[in-house]
Amino acid sequence: MSGAGSPDFFYRESQRLRYVARSAFKLLQMQEKYKLIKPGSSVLDLGCAPGAWLQVACQSLGPLKNGGAVVGIDIKKVKVPPTHCDARVKTFSADVMNLPKEKIRALSPENKGFSVILSDMCPSVSGITTRDAALSAELGMRALNLAVGEAALVSSDDNVEGKSQPDRSSSDKGHGGILLPGGNLVVKLLESEDVKEFSEACKPLFKKASWLRPKATRSCSREIYLICQGLRISVLMEGATVADLTKPEASDEAVALATSSNKVPALCQVGCVIMCLSRGAQIDWGCYFKCVVDNHCADP
Ligand SMILES: C[S@@+](CC[C@H](N)C(=O)[O-])C[C@H]1O[C@@H](n2cnc3c(N)ncnc32)[C@H](O)[C@@H]1O
Repeated sequence: MSGAGSPDFFYRESQRLRYVARSAFKLLQMQEKYKLIKPGSSVLDLGCAPGAWLQVACQSLGPLKNGGAVVGIDIKKVKVPPTHCDARVKTFSADVMNLPKEKIRALSPENKGFSVILSDMCPSVSGITTRDAALSAELGMRALNLAVGEAALVSSDDNVEGKSQPDRSSSDKGHGGILLPGGNLVVKLLESEDVKEFSEACKPLFKKASWLRPKATRSCSREIYLICQGLRISVLMEGATVADLTKPEASDEAVALATSSNKVPALCQVGCVIMCLSRGAQIDWGCYFKCVVDNHCADP
């Protein structure tokens, strides 16, 4: 009788439970530990083929009446798996490295962005360790760039010595990301010296960043997942509205920042944006940039 440590345990379990791949157990473990996907979440699944994470993501949304959405993208054509998925799951075939950010945002509910972004993207493994790790880092960096946007990465670069440059696709207009404030990001990487720098870039952008090597990962694999929870509201999306900031996952930080913005200079610019938003309008970028330049926000 083989247990969770034996090579084919997760394969046989995936067959028994009608998941299309054993990788389902990786996301199930993340869900159990971090509760990344909530009822009503909007989930972007990058590198979704053959669709096991689509199944787990859809299950995690709960009953259809709770709403939510799962959007999967892969270079390969992928059909929505017939089990554990419902009408909330859609798939698209494209190369995420070349697909403009605004086209991906347009796939989210009401074009608002996603509350969870998962990247299980992986290059075709060549066996040359450094090459595979570098390609994997590129895919991971693309996922991070899509999530938080260039502007956030540029400012977090300032804090990280020798950090590899984020992907800056010329087709990406605007600097905002497509992950909603308070949202969660999961990125798969292959272990190398670069992974520490990657997590250093993420730490200031999220409330928490932790590493996980799931039990379902094969012992010969170098894969490791960075779980980033709670995108800080200061990494604001272009076009964010009051509704985005008052979603359950964003509200704690929105309130904390709004109330502290008069006292803490570093948060003034964010406070300005929140005050603009609280007047019931889209972000007043003129006001925001004035505060950035003047470095004060006493009366936005
Ligand atoms: C490990 S598989 C994902 C498994 C999936 N999470 C599941 O549970 O079914 C990695 C996927 O990443 C995809 N991929 C690699 N590079 C990509 C890219 N540039 N754009 C889109 N998908 C990519 C591959 O085609 C492959 O299907």
